[in-house]
Amino acid sequence: METSVEPGHDFETIRNSIVRKFLTANGEFISGEMLSQQLGVTRTAIWKHINVLESLGFQFESTHRRGYQLVHIPDILLEPLVKPHLSSEISLGDNILYFPEVDSTNLIAQKMIHNGAKHGTIVCAGAQTGGKGRRGRAWFAPQGGLWMSIIARHPFPLARAAELTLLASVGIRRAIYQQTGIEVQIKWPNDLLLNGKKICGILAEIRADGENVHHAVIGIGINTNIPYAMYPSELTELATSILIESGDRVANVLLTGKILNELDPLFSGLVLGESGFKDVHEEWKQGCSTIGQRIKIQTARELLTGVAVDVDVSGILYLRKDNGMTIRIHSGDILFR
Ligand code: BTN
Repeated sequence: METSVEPGHDFETIRNSIVRKFLTANGEFISGEMLSQQLGVTRTAIWKHINVLESLGFQFESTHRRGYQLVHIPDILLEPLVKPHLSSEISLGDNILYFPEVDSTNLIAQKMIHNGAKHGTIVCAGAQTGGKGRRGRAWFAPQGGLWMSIIARHPFPLARAAELTLLASVGIRRAIYQQTGIEVQIKWPNDLLLNGKKICGILAEIRADGENVHHAVIGIGINTNIPYAMYPSELTELATSILIESGDRVANVLLTGKILNELDPLFSGLVLGESGFKDVHEEWKQGCSTIGQRIKIQTARELLTGVAVDVDVSGILYLRKDNGMTIRIHSGDILFR
């Protein structure tokens, strides 16, 4: 399937309308003739769309006289599947684009911003071939995980940019709990861990105009339904999935709905200047497994060792070094081993 970055282009709009028709038909047959009349496209076009939907995992029964009956809905982040789970009060998810496979949803989102995509547009993928992690690292993103990027286009002070990913970690942690009952741990600044291994990473890419963030792409990768056998051996010590740890599959569609419902008010509060990380600081700390631990941390300049004694309301980590001195660290990477 083509990976056009034009929001709402015809192909996607018609495909989503077809899915909506089937969702509201409650398992009844719909004829190709009726779909073609109602959507103003040819029967051949409808047939092609049905074929594409089948390639995405939808299953239809079809009979010559009665048309098509939807018998299986895949767990993919297609707009008509995700939207029914979004609160009517939120603007994140107004426009959702799904690609079965892309290089990186963050890259697609950047291109879409260039083409005028609206605030709240979400770019999702079934798999990524060039997933981007923090500090230029690659991000393993095969089928089964939850891969999405949120486009945020409301300006807010650059000085508060770090709060975006801290808030995201809180919102995603809440959503995972609501969906699975699992309490994941936060590793400073915003990784989510399950049983000590990484299950979620957040990559915010920001463009600033002077003192203000002009736009941001917040990329979220959650290892939901990735089986152990799929992991390359170099990752098995560091990363895991919810499926591996709990034995249960997670409904990506439902989890995405919960994440967007949680993140929308957190991000709006930041942008409007009404709230921010300070308001969820206690909750973040309760979920954080870093505080109190002896850690090794790689900053842009050096590798430091010590005890993480606190994280303040700005997200700054306080590290007590072995010489007894406590230093403030704004950004860095805590090494796993
Ligand atoms: C990290 O290194 O911890 C951040 C990983 C972020 C991965 C997500 S997956 C969706 C989005 N698209 C990307 O290419 N990266 C982010």
